[in-house]
Amino acid sequence: MEIIIPDRIIKGTLSVKKNKENKYQKCTIKLIKLKNEEFYQISLFTDKQVFHENIKYSEIKEYLNNIYSNNFMNMELFTNDKIFSYRITSKGKLLTNSKKNNSLIEIENHNKKKNYLLPEGIFIPPLVDLGVLTKEGKIIQSSYDKYKQINRFIEIIDDSIKNETKLKIIDFGCGKSYLTFILFFYLTEIKKIECEIIGLDLKEEVIDFCNDLVRKYNYSGIRFLKGDIASFDTDSNIDMIITLHACDTATDYALYHAIRMKCKYIFSVPCCQHEINQQLKTDKLHSNTKFGILKERFSAILTDSIRANILQYYGYKTQVMEFVDFENSPKNLLIRAEYIQSKNSNALVEVKELINSFEIRHTLYELLFSEE
Ligand SMILES: C[S@@+](CC[C@H](N)C(=O)[O-])C[C@H]1O[C@@H](n2cnc3c(N)ncnc32)[C@H](O)[C@@H]1O
Repeated sequence: MEIIIPDRIIKGTLSVKKNKENKYQKCTIKLIKLKNEEFYQISLFTDKQVFHENIKYSEIKEYLNNIYSNNFMNMELFTNDKIFSYRITSKGKLLTNSKKNNSLIEIENHNKKKNYLLPEGIFIPPLVDLGVLTKEGKIIQSSYDKYKQINRFIEIIDDSIKNETKLKIIDFGCGKSYLTFILFFYLTEIKKIECEIIGLDLKEEVIDFCNDLVRKYNYSGIRFLKGDIASFDTDSNIDMIITLHACDTATDYALYHAIRMKCKYIFSVPCCQHEINQQLKTDKLHSNTKFGILKERFSAILTDSIRANILQYYGYKTQVMEFVDFENSPKNLLIRAEYIQSKNSNALVEVKELINSFEIRHTLYELLFSEE
């Protein structure tokens, strides 16, 4: 049977499988704009996966006729004026219905460039060597999440350093140093800030690789050092420390140095907070700790709460914020702190209460207060 499909559908859903052989549970369609041309984005849902395809605007009526009559019992289609419902009864009769659509549906524009501080197209040469950009300056698909994280990280730094003209920065646990290179580029080339950055990491091969890039591109303001954050020392005055996903207690050592050196700015995204998870007494909080994932999340939150309070105690104005969506990275909390020399004594009282009541050791606390 030929089904009459309305013109200019904006979105729709097909549901209720017609027969067991149909592996799709559901199908959705939506009108999208791609390179100034309109397409329909089709999403086909199985039990476990979703498959996407785009079809031409002119092909939608034939596509819906086929897929609906072969695979589904129900279909709902939206135009900007009306909502059309189709239902095939158990006796195989098609029932149709329409009602007024009171809400305007926007067509998704898939061309929209993300409003990044460093939008796609800005060419940062070492990122080609690091496999983030193509030679033409396009972001490589698999690096989008990292690029977004770094953009947000730099946006947050940018928001704090409005009046700075000169900065000395350490990137603790710099790894492949995407953040280090992008931040250096942003500060020196775009903000025109005089800037020195040290990247520190345990891994010799990444440090050698990054130093080769420094030489290749003549970035005299960046140095990479191989070493353990725990034993790091410098005579220089450091203005800012950054950490992006420095594992477990590496973040504590980084914060410890920042406090010890009275660094003005701290931007730290912790990761893999195992220390407390391994110590948490399971009888104390059994309703939580009997679920592994809740114990892990709770331990991570406890770890970062203690860190943030210790920073407040030492005179840092401290915030803990989600810097990217959870889908972008589940390790999405950023501790942002600025040294304003306003000590919060009560924060330490609260830290001690947490440490005593959970009977835990916490590296940052021990580094600073073990003599007490
Ligand atoms: C998950 S990676 C993140 C790398 C980089 N910041 C990024 O976001 O792409 C963590 C890095 O921290 C480094 N790291 C962990 N513990 C360290 C320590 N105690 N001292 C120096 N580097 C450390 C690791 O070698 C690794 O390269």
